[in-house]
Amino acid sequence: MISKDTIDKVFEFSRVEEVISDFIALKKTGANFKGLSPFTNEKTPSFIVSPSKQIWKDFSSGKGGNVIAFLMEHEQFNYPESIRYLANKYNIEIIETAESAENIEERNERESLFIINSYALSYFEEIYSKNDIIKKYLINRGLSKSTIQNFSLGYSHDSQNEFYKSASNKGYSDNFLEETGLILSTADKKIDRFRGRIIFPIKSIAGRIVGFGGRIVDSTKKIAKYINSPESKIYNKSKTLYGIYESKQFIVRDDVCLLVEGYMDVIQLHEHGIKNVLASSGTSLTKDQIILIKRLTSNIIILFDGDQAGLSASLRSIDMILEEGLNVKICSFPDGEDPDSFVKKNKKDFMLDYVEKESKDFIDFKLDINSDFHNDEDKKVALIKNILKSISLIPDSLKQEIYIKKLSSILKIDEASLFRSFASIENSKSLKKSSRKLYGKKIVKVQSSKNENTSSYIYQLERQIISILLKYGAEEILFEDTRLSKDENGKVLETKKEIRSKVFEKIYLDLQQDEIEFTHSPFKDIFNKLINGFNNGTTLSIENFINDLDSSSSKIVSDILINDEKYQLHDWERKNIYVKKIGSELSQLVNETILNMRRFLIDKKIIELQGFQKEDNKKDILEQVMSYYKLKKVLSAKLNRVV
Ligand code: UTP
Ligand code: MN
Repeated sequence: MISKDTIDKVFEFSRVEEVISDFIALKKTGANFKGLSPFTNEKTPSFIVSPSKQIWKDFSSGKGGNVIAFLMEHEQFNYPESIRYLANKYNIEIIETAESAENIEERNERESLFIINSYALSYFEEIYSKNDIIKKYLINRGLSKSTIQNFSLGYSHDSQNEFYKSASNKGYSDNFLEETGLILSTADKKIDRFRGRIIFPIKSIAGRIVGFGGRIVDSTKKIAKYINSPESKIYNKSKTLYGIYESKQFIVRDDVCLLVEGYMDVIQLHEHGIKNVLASSGTSLTKDQIILIKRLTSNIIILFDGDQAGLSASLRSIDMILEEGLNVKICSFPDGEDPDSFVKKNKKDFMLDYVEKESKDFIDFKLDINSDFHNDEDKKVALIKNILKSISLIPDSLKQEIYIKKLSSILKIDEASLFRSFASIENSKSLKKSSRKLYGKKIVKVQSSKNENTSSYIYQLERQIISILLKYGAEEILFEDTRLSKDENGKVLETKKEIRSKVFEKIYLDLQQDEIEFTHSPFKDIFNKLINGFNNGTTLSIENFINDLDSSSSKIVSDILINDEKYQLHDWERKNIYVKKIGSELSQLVNETILNMRRFLIDKKIIELQGFQKEDNKKDILEQVMSYYKLKKVLSAKLNRVV
């Protein structure tokens, strides 16, 4: 683990505007910097960096946050990778906290393998630069110098062990050289694995070399056309996708990933300006690879050459992609063509047009390749079941419904019977899956909190509370305090008085009193941290505060701060003056937000109680519902007056 001291130093020295300008051209406008969003294709700049707050905001994609959030979004680094990147940029020594001896050894071993690979990369590039025959080969295949450099292509001598000799001379140990797979070892000699091959370095998402692919130049030789590094401590084939480093930002920008089979497909598409592309490199797609793509986009188009192998690979991939909740389309090419040859022949616009027109969703695709079902009833039934099975893998029930309806309308089969058949597939699936006994209880499907509905009312209310706390949490103002309580007959009483209180105390106590919990976990987290911060009496520095949050929370906070035009918070420090003026407005805002939140929760409670009516004691429930209704009426009246 990286030590806390190192992390603190990294935050102290990093300047968000400096880090971002390594990737984007920024222009100074007033106190801020502006540039074109790297996440969309915009023409007018809406990407803003605030040096004073050390945050950024991209209005066209909605993304934003601190310097770490930028590296995570743009470079797809994880947190430690971002810290390491910054430490490297600012020449800060990385101190690791106490690690076990094995850990240190393991890490050192991995580092050694990376160092050897990076040496090999420059060695192969160097050999390539001196070999005109090989250069000619790649030029003939249509690659320009800049594409060749971008993909760091190289060449390995066609001799037994030139590379081994050179690496040995450098002092790299036989053990590590063998572990990377660059060297093959027999009893009496060492052999370069990639001898006589064009080298395709395979990079991790962060750009480190994890392995190599090598292609023969002379196709008449009766040996494998491509060979690849074996798996090692740094190369896990099922978690790697070729092109991820070169393509990641374009996949994010275009919000779709083209998935191809081979090295040359990726490189040739880049050559022609189509850069949102990855290859599974001849192996069939794995779940981990899909999860890697999911970090970048939720849309995949599989491009495959029309042969049988490509077809069956695509069919296997479809279900796995659907199961991960991603959208998938399939685009096949004329017999004998792969994306490489197709784009080379037809150029960019034709290619994009072709993909747009020929891509089919999985239903159309399956119907298409099984077109003989029309005159064979058994085949038709099997096909429908097969498609329903794929639909059953999709986690989103709304999408499931849409696809079932689509299937029904294409095949002209009654929707209801499709849904019945679908339900039986779902049933047998859940029977298989669940080992628990269900005691006839109502099963409530809980929506995943990942795709939180940010337009929902409660989301807005919770956001509002955070916003108020961020801006005015420590201010002390007069509140008109209304307390609602019930007397022994259940009658709602309202008491009122003016009290002076800090904004954060008022909010905290009111929410506590009503046992109101935030429903959106990032808000809950931010709320707790803010309240803690205020309680500790330290003056909360917004910069430190954001840096202590995880990336999704820091995005929310900077979103709130930058988005809010109403109070012009560009000047965080001067807000005190402003608060005095809007004191009464502020107390109203706080009251109103909390009241609205209460009303919302009461509504929810009523709905919940009504849902349980059948099972529990009816009379009791009815009484509860009635008292909630009364409470709601009082609240609504109150709100109308406030508004
Ligand atoms: P292809 O045979 O389709 O090669 O294999 P290609 O990409 O069209 O290559 P070129 O155009 O002839 O240069 C697709 C992918 O399958 C893997 C490689 O990753 C290749 O890019 N492959 C293929 C191997 O690993 N070994 C092989 O012998 C052949
Ligand atoms: Mn090819």
